[in-house]
Amino acid sequence: MIRPILRYGEDVLHRPAADIDEITPEVEALIDDMIDTMYAASGVGLAAPQVGVPLRLFVADASSGQEAGALIVMINPTFIERDGVQREDEGCLSVPGFNAAVPRPSRAVIRGRDRDGTSRDVEATGILARAFEHEMDHLEGSLFLDRLRGVRREMMLRKIGKLRRTGKW
Ligand code: NI
Repeated sequence: MIRPILRYGEDVLHRPAADIDEITPEVEALIDDMIDTMYAASGVGLAAPQVGVPLRLFVADASSGQEAGALIVMINPTFIERDGVQREDEGCLSVPGFNAAVPRPSRAVIRGRDRDGTSRDVEATGILARAFEHEMDHLEGSLFLDRLRGVRREMMLRKIGKLRRTGKW
């Protein structure tokens, strides 16, 4: 089931998410819905707070559903390693219509549980490393534009504020 994706300004997007203690049927349904929602929106990643659930869970697929086996489900993820730097244009399903170059590690290793509860380490480079970092930020209540500084960030916030005030957000 596709769930609505919340947009910048909703409280749940701006506070840290909590660990998942147990993979209940509700959590499994949430995972299925997040996968459906990510693919329906042609995204490469989606974090639980984006559908209004403040739990440490994200799904990612750098191929956007084009490659079998590319789907990653991460429960209670933590970074094990991060190195290098890449700077590419990045957007977010919760900030539609905006994008900006954000510095990210070029390689990341994440440890988390998959939907069966099995602990996994996943190594990523390129777009997947960027997606990992982006989704991990969501779990800390941070969005990509929070990583921007100065006038670029202010301009985006001003435009978003205007859209919100006029009911177009
Ligand atoms: Ni995002």
